[in-house]
Amino acid sequence: AQPVIVAIDGPSGTGKSSTSKAVAAQLGLSYLDTGAQYRAITWWMVNNGIDIEDPTAVAAVAGKPDIVSGTDPQGPTITVDGVDVAVPIREQDVTSKVSAVSAVPEVRARITELQRTIASSADGGIVVEGRDIGTTVLPDADLKIFLTASPEARAARRSGELKGADLHTTREALIKRDAADAGRKTSPLAKAGDAVEVDTTDLTLQQVIECVVTLVEEKR
Ligand code: C5P
Repeated sequence: AQPVIVAIDGPSGTGKSSTSKAVAAQLGLSYLDTGAQYRAITWWMVNNGIDIEDPTAVAAVAGKPDIVSGTDPQGPTITVDGVDVAVPIREQDVTSKVSAVSAVPEVRARITELQRTIASSADGGIVVEGRDIGTTVLPDADLKIFLTASPEARAARRSGELKGADLHTTREALIKRDAADAGRKTSPLAKAGDAVEVDTTDLTLQQVIECVVTLVEEKR
């Protein structure tokens, strides 16, 4: 089969990560979680005392941290300056700050370059998930998917992941983050004109995976 590049975008709680990992594993492709990269740079900013409300301060150090992503869908990894940050980047503190950091153009330029390098060196093909993969990072992707779901479904999935988190609080935080991601100037969350939209509200994860696998197979 030809190496295939798949872009999967959409807001949080639509099952992007679970779907992307499973599709990549099933088809023998690499996998890149671009949200983890934005979380990793945010983690570094917080750890180094950078005022994340100050875009100039964030921009000035955007090139400093060395962010490395392992692209095996069976066990993706993420390190910053050699430190494994897979766990701390999921904490609430990072989650609440990541939209501000990822809105800074210098941050996006830096991370986008990393993403393109990884995608072009994935010999067998890759599934890349994020917010702007189909529109900006990999506009020539072989297949673009845009996952959606109702706010209720998304909040329910997220609070399931967070084990016991309050549904209302989760829903509010998620809506706020999506609005920030969709409303920013540089490379906002958006569906590419040539993306296939899949509404996952009433689908099981297995159904979404099967749908995407079928779409990829049609492209190969
Ligand atoms: O996918 P995840 O929820 O881990 O993404 C965390 C954050 O990273 C998003 O809310 C968004 O601010 C940022 N992000 C982005 N562009 C991407 C992927 C993620 O701006 N391609």
